[in-house]
Amino acid sequence: MNLLDISWRSLIAGGVFAAAIPAVAAEQIATRTVAGVDPAELQKMIELNVRPTAIPFPEENPYSVEKAELGKMLFFDPRLSGSNLLSCASCHNPSFGWEDGQPTGAGHGMNRLGRHTPTVLNLAWGEIFMWDGRMDSLEEQALGPIQADVEMAQPLDELIAELQAIEGYRELFAAAFPDQEISEETIGQAIATYERTIVSNRAPFDHWVDGDETAISESAKRGFVIYNTKANCVACHSGWNMTDDSFHDIGLDTDDVGRAAEMNDMPEFKHAFKTPGLRNIVERAPYMHNGSLANLSEVIDHYAAGFAERPSLSDDIKPFELSAAEKDDLIAFLESLSSEDDPVEIPVLPN
Ligand code: HEC
Ligand code: HEC
Repeated sequence: MNLLDISWRSLIAGGVFAAAIPAVAAEQIATRTVAGVDPAELQKMIELNVRPTAIPFPEENPYSVEKAELGKMLFFDPRLSGSNLLSCASCHNPSFGWEDGQPTGAGHGMNRLGRHTPTVLNLAWGEIFMWDGRMDSLEEQALGPIQADVEMAQPLDELIAELQAIEGYRELFAAAFPDQEISEETIGQAIATYERTIVSNRAPFDHWVDGDETAISESAKRGFVIYNTKANCVACHSGWNMTDDSFHDIGLDTDDVGRAAEMNDMPEFKHAFKTPGLRNIVERAPYMHNGSLANLSEVIDHYAAGFAERPSLSDDIKPFELSAAEKDDLIAFLESLSSEDDPVEIPVLPN
């Protein structure tokens, strides 16, 4: 059985992937120019975006091929839900950037959920989970939607009994967790291990970062500079995965208090939500915790002038003016963050 896609298998091995990245020679960066931008400043902006060379796995749940393969089965298996109709992938669908393409998804009994389904892409680097940060680890998170009445509505003891009754799962669990029972813990660990392998490939932007001047358009390069300066997106969407993993109120029209519910209603966390990463962002419309913005053009209009002034609004949200050409540049940059990821092979589930 070999379900693992080559690209992330090599990421895990580290060595192969690292070897594939040419070291960025100083003179290559120095030759890069964007009209009107100081080359040293440009270099600083570029250096903050260098991709990591290996996926981090926690000490408590180290990587193994067997765990990741089992986790992939569980992620795609509708038998994890009470109705046997919904899998994690029903909402976190690889075809829609690991989301569902809807403003808010539909759970058990076609129940409309209160929030937009976020992606599970690049979460190996995440430190805190959910729009409001109520979960500390992927292991813990995985057990939530299985049991939630509005999502998969499956009591864990019933799920464990169901999995134990399937010979193929008994074998897969035994291979992934020798000497351990099928349990909440092993289910969570397997799913989390698979999720950590869901990593975006190198995008045209990364090739530019590595020194290939032709990898992205001049427009996208200008957009990168706008992102880092006038539009100040980088204040929150920072680093190679474009997120600070922190919480901000960006002034969306919403009744949802977000992070405040987790933080004793502290006023500064009102309407604050976790900053999503921006890798492969064009695949994931509509946008925001409530799915209220239909496309990237609407997103930029929101940040430039469309936000609500209120006490909890982040200090980093300030109006700015972009010409039509500059807006196109910023969108071209955001588009350059999309990689061609290997097609995800849907696993044949055990019986
Ligand atoms: C019915 C749709 C639905 C199903 C099924 C579902 N999810 Fe989600 N998932 C969501 C929504 C909506 C959120 C955000 C909820 C919130 O933040 O309040 C979410 C959040 C997450 C997050 C947090 C992402 C982040 O950036 O913090 C992870 C990880 C995740 N789900 C994994 C899973 C796994 C694993 C399963 C299967 C065991 C699963 N989901 C099943 C809709 C779904
Ligand atoms: C003050 C921090 C901050 C700044 C500055 C900021 N963002 Fe965001 N961004 C966030 C947060 C937080 C969210 C989620 C908000 C929500 O859903 O309530 C978000 C959401 C997004 C989304 C939707 C992602 C998704 O998966 O739904 C996009 C796209 C985006 N931002 C792009 C940008 C761009 C482009 C800029 C610059 C013009 C920018 N952001 C500036 C914090 C910020």
